[in-house]
Amino acid sequence: MFTLYPVALSVLLLPLSDPVNTQLRMMTKYSLRALHGRDLRKLALVSAALTLAAMAGCVRYSASEESSKSLIDLGKNLFEDQSLSADASVSCATCHVPSRQFSDGRMTSRGVGGHVGTRNAMSIQDIKFVRTFFWDGRESRLENAVLQPFTNAAEMGLPDLGSLTQRVEAAEAYPSLFLRAFGDTGVSESRIAEALAAYLRSLPLPRTKFEHARIEGTELGEDVRLGFDLFKGKAACTDCHLLDESPASFTDHKFHHTGVGSEKVVGRMAEMLDRLETNRQKGLPIGNAVLVDADLAELGRFAVTQRPEDLGAFRTPTLRNVARTAPYMHDGSIATLEEAIDRELYYRGLARGRPISLTVDERRQLGAFLHMLNTSH
Ligand code: HEC
Ligand code: HEC
Repeated sequence: MFTLYPVALSVLLLPLSDPVNTQLRMMTKYSLRALHGRDLRKLALVSAALTLAAMAGCVRYSASEESSKSLIDLGKNLFEDQSLSADASVSCATCHVPSRQFSDGRMTSRGVGGHVGTRNAMSIQDIKFVRTFFWDGRESRLENAVLQPFTNAAEMGLPDLGSLTQRVEAAEAYPSLFLRAFGDTGVSESRIAEALAAYLRSLPLPRTKFEHARIEGTELGEDVRLGFDLFKGKAACTDCHLLDESPASFTDHKFHHTGVGSEKVVGRMAEMLDRLETNRQKGLPIGNAVLVDADLAELGRFAVTQRPEDLGAFRTPTLRNVARTAPYMHDGSIATLEEAIDRELYYRGLARGRPISLTVDERRQLGAFLHMLNTSH
């Protein structure tokens, strides 16, 4: 029993302590050799060394787990704190409501002072899938994206990030939360960003009902099965809403033209390009311009890249939980899932120059499949 102790211990330690892996492997070999030669003195020595390593490893492991829990906890507090908006009426959770898949059910969101923005709040439940943030992909780091709403006039409306840190410093709850998360009470923009990003990344990414049924081999039902065939076959939805990993992201992370919304602005393009340029010269961040100016919002990806082919292009959203996140599209202009399916069939067919004509039954089947993309909670 005693003789097997060091071998068992070193094997148990391997996943715990990456940085000392090589030493551990050496110790495993050493103890196996000692075991082979029945050298009890060597075995006792190596057992003692390994016990110490185990204790240190566990302490370090639980300390880092503890501090990431505290970071997430701080992030959650910041996320739900209305006092961090200009009139203390709006928090991130006002528009990203946890019980609504972190979306708000509105056509376009309402921020401080009842200010109505131009875009539909995206569900941020699945943020781990997102590579470029916002409908136009104007931000590539989550830590930058989470700071933008604080100073956006259509969202939380603070004059600058300095007043954000001042508010956090002044609030009673935060010193102990910062202390636990960072080891001291210092407040900074980057710490706030880190905590918010950690909270969003900690949100679970469960499988959809569809994926569960496939893994467990449960019967899908005729409508769902036929809907799935259409989704990847005749309707070609998987061209953009990819079935990639497991759980699947249902997005290609790219930007596509839709026709949604662009008819509103088509005649005024030259004037809008002027406005975009003036904002840029004034140094106004893109997000602040597009969330308060409905016309500029319709430029889509173009406002970021200024490439003609990106005019009116928006990021492919995930379809996870899509039945729960009405209304639809970047401007929330489509009220129901049935209309969204019809709209997509029409425009995607138009864009390919080959109409996709589905019967009423087939549309219903496609809808039944999309309902199975709900996760189980
Ligand atoms: C007034 C409503 C509102 C508030 C408040 C708000 N958001 Fe949002 N959020 C939106 C809208 C609308 C979008 C889409 C904006 C766009 O694409 O231009 C969005 C997009 C995002 C995205 C990008 C998601 C993706 O998939 O690309 C993140 C991340 C995000 N919000 C985090 C936050 C955080 C963190 C807070 C609080 C600091 C916050 N939001 C406050 C409405 C809001
Ligand atoms: C060429 C790429 C592409 C194809 C093909 C495509 N989509 Fe989309 N889909 C998008 C983009 C981009 C959006 C966002 C458009 C916008 O907001 O203006 C979107 C939005 C949606 C939405 C609304 C989601 C939300 O959260 O607002 C649904 C539902 C949808 N698509 C279903 C489908 C179905 C069903 C098919 C197959 C018939 C399909 N799509 C084919 C790119 C595509």
